[in-house]
Amino acid sequence: MKKQIRLNGFTQNSVAPHSPGLWRHPQDQGQRHGDLDYWVDLAKLLEHGKFDALFLADVHGIYDVYGGSHKAPVEHAVQVPLHNPLLQISAMAAVTKHLGFAPTYSATYTQPYKLARDFSTLDHLTKGRVAWNIVTSYLRSEAINLGLEEQMEHDKRYERADEYMEVVYKLWEQSWEDDAVIADVETGVYADSSKVHPIDHEGEFFNVPGVHLVEPSPQRTPVLFQAGASTRGRNFAAKHAEAIFTTLANDISELKAFVTDIRERAKKAGRNPGDIKVFPGIVPVVGATEEEAKLKYEELTSHVSYEGTLALLSGHTGVDFSQYDPDQYVENLDTNASHGFLQKYTVASTNRLWTVREAVLHHGLGIGATKIIGTPEQIADELELMANEGDADGFNIIQAASPGTFEDFIEHVIPILQERGSFRKEYEGTTLRENLFGKGHKFLPDYHPAKNVSIPGLRERSGVSI
Ligand SMILES: Cc1cc2nc3c(=O)[nH]c(=O)nc-3n(C[C@H](O)[C@H](O)[C@H](O)COP(=O)(O)O)c2cc1C
Repeated sequence: MKKQIRLNGFTQNSVAPHSPGLWRHPQDQGQRHGDLDYWVDLAKLLEHGKFDALFLADVHGIYDVYGGSHKAPVEHAVQVPLHNPLLQISAMAAVTKHLGFAPTYSATYTQPYKLARDFSTLDHLTKGRVAWNIVTSYLRSEAINLGLEEQMEHDKRYERADEYMEVVYKLWEQSWEDDAVIADVETGVYADSSKVHPIDHEGEFFNVPGVHLVEPSPQRTPVLFQAGASTRGRNFAAKHAEAIFTTLANDISELKAFVTDIRERAKKAGRNPGDIKVFPGIVPVVGATEEEAKLKYEELTSHVSYEGTLALLSGHTGVDFSQYDPDQYVENLDTNASHGFLQKYTVASTNRLWTVREAVLHHGLGIGATKIIGTPEQIADELELMANEGDADGFNIIQAASPGTFEDFIEHVIPILQERGSFRKEYEGTTLRENLFGKGHKFLPDYHPAKNVSIPGLRERSGVSI
């Protein structure tokens, strides 16, 4: 059997989240993101294309690194206005049966007890189709508007997130036994309290004594997505993630090196390296002919906002690019924002040097994802190459114009991948984890760290073997 490609559609509850300025494109509909119909239509479209999931990015603050001001992000709609990523999911779940939903939630700015409840609720409402994109967050504006005096240091955020995961694993995997809910009308007992356990978590960063508020959901732990790229971020991802997103690689050999590195780290963390799906980001630009695709690419690029992208890149990297000459090379500075986004444009992770202007032109269409421009056959060829030679498990489709990027891909490229046997014609299972990993894989595998956390004294208290 040919290697099976997995696909996520990537967006955010904002106007033109990953391609600043594209809201001005005549076919772009991102301005409708506050309208529930926009989301319902998007979900139907992606399920029609047999996508695994709709992946929803999110941040909690404004991109004010550029020039130290909210001016550029506000004027160019750089991830502002930005609406909540969770609230439209129930409506999308109601009009679909298989599509997964992967909202981003920050482990730095949401309490684990609250996050565990939100995701368990969504996993119930979607019948097991939810993933959590775990982020540690990179914007200083998030910290200071959410009550901190300063942003936590980069590696410390990951260290804290490691303990955060321990807390949510205890809540999701251990607090409620499978048969705790008995709903016994005769005795009037809804759930057996001896089978619902306080987690008694006491750690360096969190003290969470109580029981989980939600009974076990179809997947218990949502599918875990992550996109760490720094050394600390990769170790975190290799330990916890089931799917990893990257825009780091500039060619197939860099992609292969990234995937190999992640799989080796996963092995060191005691996991099966094949149990992490790696999804590079791509922006497909489809034309009936190569010439048509190139023209379309030029036309899309002409709508990219240069200043808006500078503001986006400044927020991603923590470097204020208003201080830079466009022809100056991007330097690999040690910032407190995302390391991966900066390394992509420096010799730290690639053989080429990027000027600020080149980085902006690349980042402005799909936050630096690989652009694949050509006929449907050429795009399918390239994806198969990235899957077979770069060892990608699937792709995160990032939009230039919404929903046109998804529509073109689904109408023209998906049928070719299906015909070649590289992509599903029918969904494999009913939950997101089953669709990603195969029927029967409803829960995390036994050697995942979530299965190794333990509630102090639980065994002695109840005699249960978990
Ligand atoms: C495709 C993709 C999507 C991402 N989405 C988000 C997001 O929605 N919110 C967020 O705070 N960070 C997001 N990130 C950033 C990562 O979580 C992380 O900060 C980044 O990859 C760098 O991590 P590093 O500092 O370990 O290098 C995303 C990264 C990638 C590659």
